[in-house]
Amino acid sequence: MSQASLYERVGGLGFFEQLADRFYAGIATDPVLFPLYPQGQDLAPARRRLALFLVQYWGGPTTYLAERGHPRLRARHTPYTIGIRERDCWLHHMRVAIDASGAGDAERQELHAYMNLAADAMVNAETASELSPGVGR
Ligand code: HEM
Repeated sequence: MSQASLYERVGGLGFFEQLADRFYAGIATDPVLFPLYPQGQDLAPARRRLALFLVQYWGGPTTYLAERGHPRLRARHTPYTIGIRERDCWLHHMRVAIDASGAGDAERQELHAYMNLAADAMVNAETASELSPGVGR
């Protein structure tokens, strides 16, 4: 028998809904990231898309695919300018959400490792952000 998917190990859909809730609660207060989100005050649709994507990625139901098609995440992010600063802000909120999630150590580590790589892959404006003052980190 192969090991249970991370989706199963963390308890399924509710875990990812709560993770996305926590993440987007952070986004709602973020002066760098909040303006990027196209639907104004209403982050609920974006929150749902993130939760369903993560569910699918970690081995749960493929509702995301049914509703949105193939993820093509990097292509879907090209409308938004994502430099080092935006990546770091995104990762900050995701780290807080993962650490508050109640997942076990191994699962938290897997989630952090994936998010670090995925967030790097979404950067599409590195040079511009590196040139702006006070960014770095
Ligand atoms: C690195 C910084 C990132 C920024 C600034 C960013 C920003 C955004 C924005 C502005 C949207 C549009 C909101 C909406 O869905 O209406 C979006 C969509 C989305 N993002 Fe990100 N994102 C980042 C990284 C990531 C990463 C690392 C993942 C996955 C692990 C991710 C997953 C998604 C998903 C699933 C959607 C919805 C795609 C769709 O079905 O249309 N994002 N993101």
